Amino acid sequence: MSTHRIAVLAGDGIGQEVTPQAQKILQVVAKATGASFEFEAGLVGGAAIDATGGPIPESTLRLAEQSDAILFGAVGGPKWDDAPQERRPERGLLALRKELDLFANLRPARCFPMLVDSSPLKRSVVEGTDLMVVRELTGGLYFGEPRGREDFADGGARAVNTMAYTSREIERVARAAFDVAMKRRKRLASVDKANVLIVSQLWREVVTRVAKDYPQVQLEHVLVDNCAMALVHTPTHFDTIVTENTFGDILSDEAAILAGSMGMLPSASLGGRVGLYEPVHGTAPDIAGQGIANPIAAILSAAMLLRYSLGRGGDADRIDAAVLRVLEQGYRTRDVYADGTTLVGTTEMGDLIAREVERSY
Ligand code: IPM
Ligand code: MG
Repeated sequence: MSTHRIAVLAGDGIGQEVTPQAQKILQVVAKATGASFEFEAGLVGGAAIDATGGPIPESTLRLAEQSDAILFGAVGGPKWDDAPQERRPERGLLALRKELDLFANLRPARCFPMLVDSSPLKRSVVEGTDLMVVRELTGGLYFGEPRGREDFADGGARAVNTMAYTSREIERVARAAFDVAMKRRKRLASVDKANVLIVSQLWREVVTRVAKDYPQVQLEHVLVDNCAMALVHTPTHFDTIVTENTFGDILSDEAAILAGSMGMLPSASLGGRVGLYEPVHGTAPDIAGQGIANPIAAILSAAMLLRYSLGRGGDADRIDAAVLRVLEQGYRTRDVYADGTTLVGTTEMGDLIAREVERSY
C-alpha cells in the first residue's frame, strides 16, 4: 500500500496545541486500516520568523509541494504584530495558498444539535443551519495589483489595494462551488457587491454563464451586506455560498458563530495538486499555551484531508461521527462549555475522539 506524505505545519499559538490532536486521529486511522502516513513537520508563521527571519522558509515550501496534503495549524500573534506586511506570519500562509494554487477554500458551518445553546444566537435562528462557504483564495483584494503605499513629504500618505479578478479566476472557483452544491442541496448563493463594484459585475456575469452547465442547481445573487445580515437572521436559507476572497474571510468568521464556536470550524483549501487543511479559528493568543483550546476544528480538518486529498471518505465519515458521539456524551472544551456538561482540555478531547474513532473500526 502506498505511503501518503503529510506535511504538518502547526505554526503559532493554539496551532501548536490542536494540530498534534489532529495528527493523533490520523494515526488511529492508519493503525486501524493499515494505511501508511508519513508526517513531516515544517516551520511556518511566527515560529519560522523566530527561527529563520522569514514567515516561510524555502524548505517548508518544498516540503509542502512534495507532500500529498498539508495539515496546517494557525499563524500570527501579538509578538509579530508590528512587523511590516512582507514579514508578518500571515504572509507564510498567503504564500502557500498562492504557490500551491489553492483557489477554492471550503468552509463548512453546521449547527451541531447538541451545541445549539452554545451559540449567542437564538435557537430558533441557528437550529438546522448547515452551509458551506466556498471562498476564492488566491485573487481579489488580497492579491490584486497595484498594491502599495506612498508617503508624502508633508507627512500624509496614500495606500492602495486592488480587488481584481480575471474571468478565468472567477470561472474556476464558480465551477468548484457548483460542484460542491451538486453534492449538497443544489442551491448556490453567489455573493458580491455588484451594485457598486465593477469587479463584482464581472463576477456576476461569469457565475451566471457557468450556471448554464449546472441546470439542476438553483442560483441566486446576493449582495454582500445583505448576506452578512441574512446569515445571522435566517442562516437556514443558505446551502452553498461562493464569494470573493475578502468577503469570504469576513462571512466565514460570521458563519462560525452559527456553529456555536470558531473552535468547531474546519476548512479545506483546494485547487492545485496538494490540498491544505486548517481550522478556521486562528492562533487565539488569549488562550494559547493553556491546554484548553478546542481541537475539534483541527480534527474535522484532518477528516477533510482524508476525504478530499486521499480519497478516504469512509474514514472521514468515522471521524465526523466520532466527534458527534463525544459531544453527545457531554464532553466540552471551554469555548462550548455549558452547565451539566463535562469540561475537558485539548489533549483529553483529542483522546476521547481518538477512542471513538478506534472503536468504530
Ligand atoms: C483566514 C485567516 C487568514 C486570512 C489570515 C491568517 C491571513 O483570517 O484563513 O481566514 O485572512 O485569510
Ligand atoms: Mg479569516
